[in-house]
Amino acid sequence: MQIYKTVAEIREALAAEALHKKIGFVPTMGALHKGHLSLVEKCHLESDLTVVSIYINPAQFRPQEDLNRYPRNFEKDIDLLRNYHADLVFTPDNAQMYPEGYCTWVTVEGLSDILCGASRPGHFRGVSTIVLKLIHIVQPKLMFMGMKDYQQIIVLEKMIEDLNLDTKIVRCPIVREPDGLAMSSRNLYLSSEERQRATCLIKALKKAQMMVNEGCLSSSILISEAENIIKQADGKIDYIKIVDGSTLQELAEVHSGARMMLAVYIGNTRLIDNLELLP
Ligand code: PAJ
Repeated sequence: MQIYKTVAEIREALAAEALHKKIGFVPTMGALHKGHLSLVEKCHLESDLTVVSIYINPAQFRPQEDLNRYPRNFEKDIDLLRNYHADLVFTPDNAQMYPEGYCTWVTVEGLSDILCGASRPGHFRGVSTIVLKLIHIVQPKLMFMGMKDYQQIIVLEKMIEDLNLDTKIVRCPIVREPDGLAMSSRNLYLSSEERQRATCLIKALKKAQMMVNEGCLSSSILISEAENIIKQADGKIDYIKIVDGSTLQELAEVHSGARMMLAVYIGNTRLIDNLELLP
């Protein structure tokens, strides 16, 4: 496994290695857990060359967000990636990705302003820009991404379509703790008492899914039940919405492909999760 810190170096390595090889790519911000590693594992199975990036992208954090205390665990990440058969690891610094005078940004309009984009203005502009840059550098056929960040996938699929990129996103299932909490680097922020309360997200989602199975299709009823579960656990709701799984447009009634999306503060930590309510 080789580690590259500059765009020029990884370009050169890929040009030499990648001829006729199907490149698979897993972009990450590090602090790797089993969710990230499931993507690397799938990438290794489905590609000829597994490229992983570790880069905490400042452009997707707002000034008051957790950029400075975002967990960093470089040595451990590298050991894990070696065990999971990554071939090339790209770990650029800010000067590589946003050199002085940098001024080009990509925005997927509409999809970037709703749900997480409404609470975190500019977040998806930062995500789209960095992922477009990484795709240009790595030139992957396949890019493996987790459905934990469901809106991120929808935004990036639209960017790929609109800009005619030759990369396909492989949607990967959410990896969860035994009690159902979706794995996330931000779970490290939770105290042990908050960690217990954090299971309210999956409980709310499962309850909605169960009610749909029993025939309740009204979004307002499903959402108010989910709100109750979150409030009982003293969670602060950022949003709970039921949306169409392809367009992310809100639905009054659940139909096939509908998804409940939620963002909840447990203490100061903002957690997100989502679940398909009807296949
Ligand atoms: P990060 O939060 O590090 O996530 C990297 C990838 O891991 C994303 O595709 C995310 O959906 C996936 N992932 C995280 N937790 C997961 C879980 N529990 N199960 C399955 N997959 C999971 O997402 C980002 O970084 C950044 O926005 C990035 C795309 C790297 C751009 O900076």
